[in-house]
Amino acid sequence: MKQTNDGPRPSAATRILPVAGRRVIVCSGTGCKANGSEAVYAAFVDAIEAAGAKVAVEFKHEGHQDGVPVTRSGCQGICSQAPLVTILPENILYMRVKPADVAEIVSATLGEGKVIDRLLYRKVDTGEACRGAQEIPFLHRQTHVVLRDVGTLDPENLDEYLRLGGYEAARKAFTSMTPEQICAEIGRSGLRGRGGGGFPTGRKWDAARQQPGAKKYVICNADEGDPGAFMNCSVMEGNPHSVIEGLMIAARAIGADEAYVYIRAEYPLAVRRMKKAV
Ligand code: FES
Repeated sequence: MKQTNDGPRPSAATRILPVAGRRVIVCSGTGCKANGSEAVYAAFVDAIEAAGAKVAVEFKHEGHQDGVPVTRSGCQGICSQAPLVTILPENILYMRVKPADVAEIVSATLGEGKVIDRLLYRKVDTGEACRGAQEIPFLHRQTHVVLRDVGTLDPENLDEYLRLGGYEAARKAFTSMTPEQICAEIGRSGLRGRGGGGFPTGRKWDAARQQPGAKKYVICNADEGDPGAFMNCSVMEGNPHSVIEGLMIAARAIGADEAYVYIRAEYPLAVRRMKKAV
C-alpha cells in the first residue's frame, strides 16, 4: 500500500507480537475524523504492512484472524482529545494521535508490549497518566446502555453487529411476540423518550397500535435540535444497525410497514452510515 504519511516507519527489525484478541480501533466519529483520524488509520495500515504483517480490515470474533485487525469505530467518548486510538486486548487508549506517532505505536506497543506514556490521558488534578478508559474518571463513571457497543464496534460491518446478537430482538419480535406483548414489554422496561419530555415509549407505541387505519408509518426523529446534543448522532454514527433494529421492532408493534429517519444535513457521516446499514 502507498505510503500516506511523512512520519517514520517501523524498522525492518519490528515484529508484531501475536496476541489473542489483538485489535487496533481508530475512532472514526465526526470529532476524530475532523482531527485527522483517517490519516491515522492509513498510517496504521502502512506501518503494520511495513513491519511485515498483514492487516485485517474486519475483526473476527471467532479468533480466526488472518492479520492484525485495524478497524474504525464511532465516538469513543472524549472528543476533546481527538483522534483516539484504542489497542485491544490491553485496553490502552492513546490520545491526540498523529500519523507521525503510528510507527512508534506499532513497534513499541504492538511489537514489544510497551505503553507510550506521552500519548496517554492525564488526570487534570494530579497529572497522573491513565492507560485506558477504565482509569479516566470522566469515562469510567459512565454506564453505557444505548451506547454500549459504540466506540468498539465497527459501524460499517453488519457481521460484527450480528455476532454481538444484533437483530435477535427483531427476530423475536417478529416470530414469537404479538404487537400487544411488545408494547407491554417495552412499557415494563421503563424505556422513555430521550428528547427531554421523557414520555414512556411503551405507552406511545400502544397508542399508535390502537389507532385505526390500514397504513401506518414509523418516523424516527433523529434531528436533536437541542443545543449541544449529539446523542442521536453518536448512535447513528457508532451503531446504525441498532437504530434500524429499533425501527423494525417499533414497526411490528404498531403495525407499520414503512419507516423514515429524519437526519439533519449537517450530519453527513450519520447519513452515510445509516444509508450503508440500510
Ligand atoms: S469522535 Fe472520536 S472520541 Fe468522539
